[in-house]
Amino acid sequence: MPLEIAQALSASRLAEIRAQLSPLLPTTRPTTLEIGSGHGHFLTAYAEAHLDHLCIGIDLIGDRLERSARKSNRAKLTNVVWMHAEATLFLEALPADTALAEIFVLFSDPWPKRRHWKNRVVQPEFLSLLASRAGQGARLYFRTDHSQYFEQVGALINQHPAWTLVADAPWPFELPTVFQKRAESHQSLVATKG
Ligand SMILES: C[S@@+](CC[C@H](N)C(=O)[O-])C[C@H]1O[C@@H](n2cnc3c(N)ncnc32)[C@H](O)[C@@H]1O
Repeated sequence: MPLEIAQALSASRLAEIRAQLSPLLPTTRPTTLEIGSGHGHFLTAYAEAHLDHLCIGIDLIGDRLERSARKSNRAKLTNVVWMHAEATLFLEALPADTALAEIFVLFSDPWPKRRHWKNRVVQPEFLSLLASRAGQGARLYFRTDHSQYFEQVGALINQHPAWTLVADAPWPFELPTVFQKRAESHQSLVATKG
């Protein structure tokens, strides 16, 4: 696709996401973002247990978002929204004064082959963009069943000036996701901004 067309599409998608976000943000409610929310089990349960939070789940797959919305509608939740958005574009679309309180990245696609690692969601630029939309003391929760991705994210966070790994931090809310149920084991890390 020619670069100008790609840029125009991305700009128009950015405008659409901003329009969807404008009734929601800014907010005084603690805002919880799940990136790659999949089938929505985790965030629906999380939102139900944290009615004072605004919870936003984003994913690339529309069908999964529709299933997620059915779950949260059945639970009559009004504090969770699902958006069809790519992570970087979504973060760019957030108002600059957004102060996310919590970000969950659960069983993000590991792209096992080295030549595909560039497709992983967590990258240095992603951590910088996330930090720019996170409040002081915000928590980033990352969980994976891929040990090399786990090591890589730990190293990236260690090298990043905005994020600090929190050793032995408790996992705030346990609700096995679809991919967690399929995994033999998993590892988690918690980082804080600042
Ligand atoms: C392996 S699945 C895990 C889903 C869910 N978190 C779970 O644990 O069951 C990864 C999800 O992340 C979504 N995803 C991958 N890259 C993404 C991106 N750049 N932005 C938003 N979502 C993304 C995929 O569509 C997929 O639903």
